[in-house]
Amino acid sequence: MQQDLQGRVALVTGAARGIGLHIAERLARAGCQVVLGDIDAQGAARAAEAIGPAARALAMDVRDRAQVRACVDAVLDAQGGIDILVNNAGVLGQGPFEQTDGAAWDELVAVNLTGIFNCVQAVAPSMIDRARGNIINLASVSAARGGGSVGNTWYGTTKAGVVAMTQGLARELGPRGVRVNAISPAVVDTDMMRPYLTGALRDAITSRIPLRRLTLRSDVGEVAAWLASDASEFVTGQTIAVDGGLLCT
Ligand SMILES: NC(=O)c1ccc[n+]([C@@H]2O[C@H](COP(=O)([O-])OP(=O)(O)OC[C@H]3O[C@@H](n4cnc5c(N)ncnc54)[C@H](O)[C@@H]3O)[C@@H](O)[C@H]2O)c1
Repeated sequence: MQQDLQGRVALVTGAARGIGLHIAERLARAGCQVVLGDIDAQGAARAAEAIGPAARALAMDVRDRAQVRACVDAVLDAQGGIDILVNNAGVLGQGPFEQTDGAAWDELVAVNLTGIFNCVQAVAPSMIDRARGNIINLASVSAARGGGSVGNTWYGTTKAGVVAMTQGLARELGPRGVRVNAISPAVVDTDMMRPYLTGALRDAITSRIPLRRLTLRSDVGEVAAWLASDASEFVTGQTIAVDGGLLCT
């Protein structure tokens, strides 16, 4: 599907690799100027170079409120506004609850929840000033079942928080011209998941998915491009599962 995002500016967090990189590439292909924010500064620089002149990289740790604000101010100064914010940066915690220590929990909350809080707090006021903006959050199917069988309790809990934030922010920001939606992929073969995708587990997950494959980064990129475009102008507060039907089972 073609979306025309000519002249728009998108900030995508966690875009040095994986799903975030694919979303940034997809938005750039639709005509967007994309800013790739990532804690991995070198990875983000490499990714921006690969995308081309429409992209630039920013060293940005979403956990660090002051740094996020400084990065956002720099983008606003340089590019005049941010039309699309994709809160993609995230970390995974896997394993039974006894094996998750306090530090792991703090890190999940800091990146998956506080990271979005920091980015929204920094970006949304400028969107409200212009009475237009579009925020897309990366949730997960694990939000729906407290972790379910493919995530785990703590990670799923943070992603359920992302769904709640998406609905609440949609309600608050809609009257001021800003849409807020989320995407819930199932399992995507990225650096995040690859260590767990051993042959047997991959087959077990695939056999539970009605469309019988894992989610591709391009599946997520297409939905992100649609949500970012005017084709979805009356859609807000929604979490769109890109899961081949997994949540129906
Ligand atoms: N891969 C999956 O199966 C899957 C499924 C559902 C949801 N998701 C979600 O999609 C998003 C992207 O996942 P992915 O699979 O591409 O992960 P990934 O680990 O491949 O990439 C994550 C990116 O985020 C960056 N990052 C991590 N901490 C950061 C921080 N503090 N500040 C800025 N950047 C930071 C990393 O450097 C990396 O570039 C995450 O929010 C994840 O929870 C992934």
